Amino acid sequence: MKAVLFDLDGVITDTAIYHYQAWKEMASKLGIDIDEEFNEHLKGVSRMDSLQLILEKGGIGNRYSESEKVKMADDKNIVYKQMIEKVSPNDLLPGIKELLKDLKDKGVLLGLASASQNGPVILDRLEVTRYFDTIVNPAALRAGKPDPEIFVKGAQQLGVDPKDCVGVEDAAAGVQAINGAGMVSVAIGNQTTLAAANKVVPATEDVSADLLEKVWSGAINCNGVF
Ligand code: BG6
Ligand code: MG
Repeated sequence: MKAVLFDLDGVITDTAIYHYQAWKEMASKLGIDIDEEFNEHLKGVSRMDSLQLILEKGGIGNRYSESEKVKMADDKNIVYKQMIEKVSPNDLLPGIKELLKDLKDKGVLLGLASASQNGPVILDRLEVTRYFDTIVNPAALRAGKPDPEIFVKGAQQLGVDPKDCVGVEDAAAGVQAINGAGMVSVAIGNQTTLAAANKVVPATEDVSADLLEKVWSGAINCNGVF
């Protein structure tokens, strides 16, 4: 294992709740009610794709022009940015600081493969930017998760082969993207929702550098493509 590519929201910190609250506020102004179950489909999905899914849920997927939709997404982002102003190192999910540190000590390269354009700001607020060797710019992608592009780009930016990488995710769309990139996937959360991953663990404190290395070498040994 030469590199680990991390998702951000729901893996490094729990900003997923702020995305949900900001979307819920925007959707309710349009008369659309979204709940936590629906929100699962928004996890890992880009800002504009999330907006489209919400409009479709309200049966108004074709009502607005592209510029109107950009304005709605910008408004949601203004609310979201206010919410994340209070993010601090205390908001790192359990075990993540140790994990980043252990991986760096072992000489493993680290990358951020988050769909969020707010990723760099959040890493700064969490005071963990220095652990990351690269950050993929989601605004420069042709396709968002579940397309593998973001993970493929991350490996390219690190100069490593995808087969030597592990991707860590909390969303089904993200697991699909990791697998599609030819990497080994470790997922955090619900076993059923994330069943496509090479390994699913219930919580961030269950992920260690040793576990990632073990899952990676196990995946290589059991399917000859690696
Ligand atoms: C992902 C989140 O990490 O980033 C999604 O899981 C979010 O919920 C997406 O929509 C885009 O984030 P941002 O900060 O660019 O609006
Ligand atoms: Mg996530």
